[in-house]
Amino acid sequence: MARLKTGILISGRGSNLEALIEACRDPALPAEIVTVVSNKPDAAGLAIAREAGIAAVALDHRGFADRAAFDDAVHRHLSEAGVELVCLAGYMRLLTTGFIARWHDRIINIHPSLLPAFRGLNAHAQALAAGVKISGCTVHVVRPEVDAGPIIAQAAVPVLPDDTPATLAARVLAAEHRLYPLALRLFAEGRVRIDGARAVVEGVADAGLTLINPR
Ligand code: GRF
Repeated sequence: MARLKTGILISGRGSNLEALIEACRDPALPAEIVTVVSNKPDAAGLAIAREAGIAAVALDHRGFADRAAFDDAVHRHLSEAGVELVCLAGYMRLLTTGFIARWHDRIINIHPSLLPAFRGLNAHAQALAAGVKISGCTVHVVRPEVDAGPIIAQAAVPVLPDDTPATLAARVLAAEHRLYPLALRLFAEGRVRIDGARAVVEGVADAGLTLINPR
């Protein structure tokens, strides 16, 4: 079985990267992580990748003339590694439209809210300020507009009365670590079909549960 060659872009901690590495240890998951790129040389995720035996490079964006030159270098690196799918995992750089076009329908991202709500930075603070009772995370196909694009999968968690951005982030992060591997699996199995603005996921059972908060 051919495994989808996956490249992961990070900027920091790398806990989603770690969840994806763990998931790809399962030989039944038809994806393998062939390279990890960080735009920050001190990203903790680089060590996580190397410990797992995955080639990991830092391309420091500060060393490039502009965004396009930096994205060109990332593109070259991914192409040389034979990457077929790019996963953004806490990648804190805006991608140029040129890069997104080159990898059309082949870049996915995880965002810590139930999109289309609370795009951008500080998603948890935004959710708390809005008083929503349920939040969560979303894996979506990347489009030029930030935190937008066909939604592959979402996970929901309750927002509790005493939540701070930190406690909500921790609850959502635990869900992220389950959701991103699932979304990668669906993508790698060829079950994600892009239909206009939507991603249609084929051959899956629905969750079949209603999460009501408060009870
Ligand atoms: C996650 O919350 C992810 O949703 C967001 O950035 C954070 C990255 O965390 N895009 P980590 O580096 O994967 O631990």
